[in-house]
Amino acid sequence: MGNREKESTPRLVDNTADLRRAVADARAAGKTIGLVPTMGALHEGHLSLVRASRAECDLTVVTIFVNPTQFGPHEDLEKYPRTLENDLRLLAGEGADLAFAPPREALYPAGFSTYVDPPDVALTLEGKCRPGHFRGVTTIVLKLFNLAQAHVAYFGQKDYQQARVIDRMVHDLDVPIIIRVCPIVRESDGLAMSSRNRYMNPAERDKALALWRCLTAARDLVASGQRDAATVATGMRAVLQEREVTRIDYAALADPDTLQPVTTIEGPTMALVAAHVGKTRLIDNLRLEP
Ligand code: PAF
Repeated sequence: MGNREKESTPRLVDNTADLRRAVADARAAGKTIGLVPTMGALHEGHLSLVRASRAECDLTVVTIFVNPTQFGPHEDLEKYPRTLENDLRLLAGEGADLAFAPPREALYPAGFSTYVDPPDVALTLEGKCRPGHFRGVTTIVLKLFNLAQAHVAYFGQKDYQQARVIDRMVHDLDVPIIIRVCPIVRESDGLAMSSRNRYMNPAERDKALALWRCLTAARDLVASGQRDAATVATGMRAVLQEREVTRIDYAALADPDTLQPVTTIEGPTMALVAAHVGKTRLIDNLRLEP
């Protein structure tokens, strides 16, 4: 596996046949393939995944597809930012080799009716708040894995539960791919980068920092010896509410592997939060090491 210096526009592919041909050629030439699945509206978080892939693999494929099956009926599918031109510019700056940006029918043709039933780790948190979400994620991700034939796939820790779900799916279904989970990239004040951040006006952007503050409050409580998960969760909620973030989907302490709730913080524990700021739903998480 190797790294290369390069700055040129990635090859843009919009159909599965061309993608299959490109990756088959790369494999035949003995190249390793890194896959970065995205929904576009790229930011530094995505670009860190591209960098990780380029550092490890010979060919980096970035997929840009706003996957309709992972959005609920009242979610932001229609207004989700679509910024292909800018995405390609950013990918050129990072030296990504191929961008796969298909239309919806290329991945969900008429008659499509097979879905991947997600694993148990999908049942809590996001899975509860967004019924059907992970079924859409596992289905599209498995399709992308099959199409891209990558050796390694890169995901961000911001979608922590998603990464656990995909890791479990790959394990359970014997998918021959290595999953790498890369650290959350934050703005200088701590806000986790997200394509949805661009929905917020300056006042909401300010409020949104409450999510990071509630996670650092959890970390501080645990560092000061607090081991009762309910007390820590109450502290997290208090921080959100103080900053007028009142529509909270969850502020939870969970086992890092199963994402089941913990009652006592004895070992590494995930603090996870999902809340609405104005019309924008945000998530964030932090691993706590007591
Ligand atoms: O994390 C995302 O952007 C999406 O859930 C993914 C993995 C690209 C599947 O659509």
